[in-house]
Amino acid sequence: MGISIDLDKCHQDGFCSRVCPASIIAMEGPEGTPSPAAGFEEICLHCGHCLAVCPHGALSLDGVSPDEVPPVSKELAISPAQAAQFMLSRRSIRRYQDKVVDRALLEQALDIARQAPSGHNAQPVEWVVYSGREQVKRISDLVTDWLEWLCGHNPEIALPLHLDLVVAQYRAGHDRVFRGAPHLIITHAHQDNGFAQSSAFIALTFLDLAAHSLGLGACWAGYFNRAAQHYKPLQEALALPEGHISFGGMMLGHPQYRYLRIPRRNPLRVAWR
Ligand SMILES: Cc1cc2nc3c(=O)[nH]c(=O)nc-3n(C[C@H](O)[C@H](O)[C@H](O)COP(=O)(O)O)c2cc1C
Repeated sequence: MGISIDLDKCHQDGFCSRVCPASIIAMEGPEGTPSPAAGFEEICLHCGHCLAVCPHGALSLDGVSPDEVPPVSKELAISPAQAAQFMLSRRSIRRYQDKVVDRALLEQALDIARQAPSGHNAQPVEWVVYSGREQVKRISDLVTDWLEWLCGHNPEIALPLHLDLVVAQYRAGHDRVFRGAPHLIITHAHQDNGFAQSSAFIALTFLDLAAHSLGLGACWAGYFNRAAQHYKPLQEALALPEGHISFGGMMLGHPQYRYLRIPRRNPLRVAWR
């Protein structure tokens, strides 16, 4: 484990040393050979930047050699205009086809989402995928129970958000909670993990974009996100590992409709200093 350098391949260019976020690779000796600082194991983020930046494939990390990780392919590079259109054409999808998504496709999306940035490269996010209306409805029933409780006990929060209407429509068979989606994908992590909330939200954002790239549609499950933080019966039903809570989830499925234009948003509000 740790960092190992193939001195036959190393060009002593110092890239690995300069990109290391923890500054644990020093260029030592007259030749400037990269060498991990004493006690680096404690400090290393295991982020793989040293391995990924080396043009000569000279550095292995934690037993993984450069040949064992995917290269960044020049052929797959996209233009700024393509990247902008891809991101801007993502929409929150609220109408789904009545079929589940193939497991392989879900795995492909989650495999992208798991590589989202996380504080200190802690990668605390784990996932649960609910598939099929029956499984998803089990959760939306509980979310709706919590929304109803909120309407009764905290009307000053619930009523301005028209949560009473969401509940009434749900009870009448119109799923305003998960929009009839065939999947609910939730994140979870240990409740004491300080990186979990932000890491989960970024991972969900990656999932949203990954779904879009695969022709799928997703939508943030905001009511679920709140209920999962507060509502014991829902937390019990999620049956997550000891000490874990959900830090948010998303509905996902095959979209019924394609969006043909990019809607307007607020103008950029920015201060340049
Ligand atoms: C944190 C968060 C929670 C959301 N919760 C819900 C939700 O519960 N139900 C829903 O239909 N849309 C939800 N949305 C989607 C927003 O309504 C949507 O992002 C916004 O209207 C802009 O549309 P767009 O995503 O297509 O650009 C949520 C979005 C975010 C970022």
